[in-house]
Amino acid sequence: MLKTAREAAEVIRKHRSSSIDVVSHMDSDGVCAAAVISKALDRLDIKHNVKFVRMLYRENLKKIDAPDLTIFTDLGSSQMSNVREKFLGKNVIIADHHEPEDVDGWPELVHLNAHKFGVDGMHEISGAGMAYLIARELDAGNKDLAATAMVGAIGDIQNAWGRLSGYNREILQDAIDAGVVEKNMDILLYGRHSRPIFKSLEYFSDPAIPGVSNSTAGCVSLLKELGIDLKHGGKWRRPVDLKAEEKQRLASELISLAYTNIPDDLVKYVPSLVVGETYTMKKESERSMLKDVDEFSTCLNSTARHEQPLIGLEVAKGDRNTYCRAMSNLIRYHRRNIAEGLDFVETSGLKRGPKEYIQYFDATGEIKETFIGTIASLTLGNSNSDPYRPIVGIVSTDGMAKASARCSKLLFLRGLDMAKAMKAAAKAVGGEGGGHAVACGAQVEESRVQEFLQRFEERLLAQLEVS
Ligand code: C5P
Ligand code: ZN
Repeated sequence: MLKTAREAAEVIRKHRSSSIDVVSHMDSDGVCAAAVISKALDRLDIKHNVKFVRMLYRENLKKIDAPDLTIFTDLGSSQMSNVREKFLGKNVIIADHHEPEDVDGWPELVHLNAHKFGVDGMHEISGAGMAYLIARELDAGNKDLAATAMVGAIGDIQNAWGRLSGYNREILQDAIDAGVVEKNMDILLYGRHSRPIFKSLEYFSDPAIPGVSNSTAGCVSLLKELGIDLKHGGKWRRPVDLKAEEKQRLASELISLAYTNIPDDLVKYVPSLVVGETYTMKKESERSMLKDVDEFSTCLNSTARHEQPLIGLEVAKGDRNTYCRAMSNLIRYHRRNIAEGLDFVETSGLKRGPKEYIQYFDATGEIKETFIGTIASLTLGNSNSDPYRPIVGIVSTDGMAKASARCSKLLFLRGLDMAKAMKAAAKAVGGEGGGHAVACGAQVEESRVQEFLQRFEERLLAQLEVS
């Protein structure tokens, strides 16, 4: 894999005076992948343009000109034949971690894909990680960019079980060696550096903790009971401000409270969902949303979901001024959208699938298609949904429906792989789908949504039977 990364770096050096485009995936990992390459090129004074696309469909490819060199990051491998059709004869680098299509006869292509080298691209390295391998070959001084590669990996849920694994650990080590990231064992609370402890606790919902998840009053009284001060010197204490023994007390209380509400077969997994590895960006300012790698990734995700990935790109490349402010404004807008979306789902209610297993909602005309995944995720953490059932959100536009599914990590541990079921169910009704075991999506014809839901549900139930 490193040999191919070296080859890619050579091609870039050879084209340093040519026209270069970086084309990347419009999601958090794609933004990071583009940022890593773009930063490495900037450092070598190599001029280039960066563009983002959702998918490399033929129509999208028509809109992309083919310059002397195109570097695809976090996409390209699974749509190789489309890309080849347009780019054959041009110099192309693909740095991707999605399952590759088999395409021959493309001598100018340098194809750097994890799967081709026996590395599990789904869990062990992301698109940003693949881009990082090239950046490191361009200059060993680019090891600080390993931090951005980690943000990408976490954007693609590659830390699902409390730690990065596989090749991502090498990248983590580079980031630690470069002095840009710190690794700790901590309670897995979102907003460790940026939110008051009671707020962070309230948002903890996987597993759902009775009296804590979604309950401000419950969180405040739990902290009081445990003798953990909410404030220090007039300022709210954040999860990182807790002393080691306070963290210990809180973690064991959260674990024991979670036990009371969990099916017996899942009890053994609880500690690893409450305590795990956390990653801190050492050079970001205190209380910043960019201090925690996970939160950094969520910020970039919101820029991509609102189709403003160029803002995310500049922030990922290091801007802490204009673009960072633009991102903060976008996040405020994002939060308003979330509140409206959650309100809609709460008011209209959740329906059950034909076999009464999955829960779903249809938000056609109410929620943007790029946003339905976020709303499905957050609805699952809400008190009006059942945390032990997969949830599907649907939005139809012009006869095509987009479905987004989410489920608790505990269901994955019980043997559920929603991505597999989603892919098969979508295919069976002439659509397309995929993603991760606990977060996936599909595109199907609107008229076939019910059939799709039925097949999806049947496949999930069959998985549970054999597991
Ligand atoms: O859009 P959403 O956030 O629900 O997507 C979740 C995951 O499912 C993403 O990793 C996305 O790439 C994947 N997905 C897919 N095929 C689709 C829709 C989403 O593989 N048609
Ligand atoms: Zn990716």
